[in-house]
Amino acid sequence: MRLLSVRLIVSLILGVTLVSLLSSYYEVQGEKRGLRKELEHRADVLGESLAGNVEPHLESGSLKELQRIVERFSNREHLAGVAVFNTKLETIAESSGLAQRLQMQPFGVLQAIKKNQKQSQFIHQAGGAWHIFVLPLHQHEELVGALAIVHDASYIDAQTAQVWRDSFLRVLVQVFLIALITLLIVRWSIAGPIARAAQWMRALRTGKIVTPMAGFPDLDLLRPLAREVTTFAESLTAARSAAQREAQLREAGESSWTADRLSVHVRSKLGDSRLFVVSNREPYSHVREGKSIQAIVPASGLVTALEPVLRACDGTWVAHGSGDADREMVDARDCLRVPPEDPRYTLRRVWLTKEEEEGYYYGFANEGVWPLCHIAHTRPIFRFSDWAHYQKANLKFAEAVLEEMAGTEQPVLLAQDYHFGLLPRLVKKERPDARVAIFWHTPWPNPEAFAICPWQSELLDGLLGADLIGFHIQSHCTNFLQTVDRTVESRIDWEHFTVNREDHRTVVKPFPISVEFPEPSGPAAARESTYVERGTLLRELGVDALFLGVGVDRVDYTKGILERFLAIERMLEKHPTYQGKFTFVQIGAPSRTHIKRYHDLLADVEAESERINWRFQTSRWKPIVFLKRHYSHKEIQRYYQTADLCLVTSLHDGMNLVAKEFVAARHDEQGVLILSRFTGAARELRDAVLVNPYDVEHTAEAIRYALEMEPEERTARMQRLRRVVKEQNIYRWAGTLIAELCR
Ligand code: G6P
Repeated sequence: MRLLSVRLIVSLILGVTLVSLLSSYYEVQGEKRGLRKELEHRADVLGESLAGNVEPHLESGSLKELQRIVERFSNREHLAGVAVFNTKLETIAESSGLAQRLQMQPFGVLQAIKKNQKQSQFIHQAGGAWHIFVLPLHQHEELVGALAIVHDASYIDAQTAQVWRDSFLRVLVQVFLIALITLLIVRWSIAGPIARAAQWMRALRTGKIVTPMAGFPDLDLLRPLAREVTTFAESLTAARSAAQREAQLREAGESSWTADRLSVHVRSKLGDSRLFVVSNREPYSHVREGKSIQAIVPASGLVTALEPVLRACDGTWVAHGSGDADREMVDARDCLRVPPEDPRYTLRRVWLTKEEEEGYYYGFANEGVWPLCHIAHTRPIFRFSDWAHYQKANLKFAEAVLEEMAGTEQPVLLAQDYHFGLLPRLVKKERPDARVAIFWHTPWPNPEAFAICPWQSELLDGLLGADLIGFHIQSHCTNFLQTVDRTVESRIDWEHFTVNREDHRTVVKPFPISVEFPEPSGPAAARESTYVERGTLLRELGVDALFLGVGVDRVDYTKGILERFLAIERMLEKHPTYQGKFTFVQIGAPSRTHIKRYHDLLADVEAESERINWRFQTSRWKPIVFLKRHYSHKEIQRYYQTADLCLVTSLHDGMNLVAKEFVAARHDEQGVLILSRFTGAARELRDAVLVNPYDVEHTAEAIRYALEMEPEERTARMQRLRRVVKEQNIYRWAGTLIAELCR
């Protein structure tokens, strides 16, 4: 750093000096030219007026008079003297003392007489600088002599020397200031941050820091470096805590699943093979924001769950490229490595036309199968054209999967969800060696409900192409098998939950999906700091409340958001002491709004929250804050970690990962989970306060109960909930699913 500073300063000094000297040189030259011009002009004016006085006396030959005139003009500023010559170059009159000061050279006089023209000349003589101006004298147009005006020009040299001195001083001051400023910049903006960064990295290396450096040098210069180092630090921290956790688990003889264990497990199961995932929703979509392109993680439980699995196994995820800047980010094979800040696996994007998206995604998948599988009293719509697009899109995705699988022996495919009912058979037909599983993230209804789908046999046939079909819970598996039993030709083994159809066996099993369970990176936050953080958060939202409830959902009619609001209204009505004290924050990511039902629901949710707020709100408090946008996983953590309760009131839900995320976020073992009994999660999270969301009275009471729960009970419930989520985490889900598939 010292060498850099010296080099920088020396180069700056040399550069500044050179530039200053050059500019001083031009300044001096200009000054000199100006002064000379001015002197020449003065001599000319004086000469003209003197000539007028001298010429008449030349004619009369009055030498005395001439001498008098010459003497009279001699005492002017810088004037050394005046001399009059005849045409033979003889001096006729001359200022006294001029001859002693200067040996007049007749050359200028000769030229003036010869050319009959004014002559101007600067000379150095007798240790001085002189300006001699000669102009011819006439009588009746006839040349009769010359008049010489001599100025002492040494003041010009003195003045230019002064300019040189001034500019030298200026250079000196400039150089000093520049060196000083450079030193300060180097110290404050480079050496300081680098020293801090080095200190932080040292602490990191020695294991003293477990969180990314907050406020890493906020300098543009170091920003790209800071980003890299932060990512590096995160990976290092993650690796260190993973190793620690592994060691602790070994020590405690526990068999919890971790990312590392999954990665080892999957590698041993896969051998030379590779893992492929196909889903409609991509884990990262690139969208244009102004002039830049942002990578967005969409609101989807499926994405939340699968991302850690793909990261652990470096597989390939095939999905619909739906972002408006997606095409710009892929290579020639429509692939890119993700996550953008720390690439761990490949994302292959599939492109759909507007019509395909309309028919397959919005139409058949989301207006048909989604309401068909969720008993939430929204009628499914089945259009033949949508079905045709669904078939075409399944084929398109299957082709992309097959392309990615080329060259891999016995590839393992995990297809995701109700968008791909036909894909397992399409893949299996082309690659019988592939091990194909499909995980159905929504519930599976009973056979009577499913039977209204005009293409139920085709869907079941497509699904039964898979080797393994996974649901969240056993009752969905049972419903599925009963549907198969009633609809297609097959043999069902109820003991092993398998379907045999056309010499192919499909295992149907529950795999309750989950989330990561990150161990707290530091000591658990004290209860007081949770209060403080909650206060800050509420202040940011502009409300003054004592208790905080939170709900996080895509705005979907299956999530029971309106029912939840009614329960909050009823609770405030029945227990007015909570008016002015309890605020519920609903984070609602707009979803599928192209579909009228969803579009209307979004407006209904807004209107309902406004109605309830209008009824109860005061100047500084309101019961419901509806945050209508998608929040990142990181942003949501703050709400999870500070809320007194989390409300999950789905009318019907395959699993619901918000419930598990809330539990995983509560390192402080506080907070109460109120959970709909119609979610898959309710089978595992028995220590939640279970509610029927259709029963507004009961849910309202559950909210009050949660707010008034004894601290011991609250902690005990949360501890038990956390044990379940820790044990049944996403790595176990993926590990057991892949183990079953590879068996
Ligand atoms: C549910 C489905 C997912 C889907 C998610 C978000 O969780 O099971 O497959 O990705 O909703 O919905 P979207 O239509 O936006 O992908």
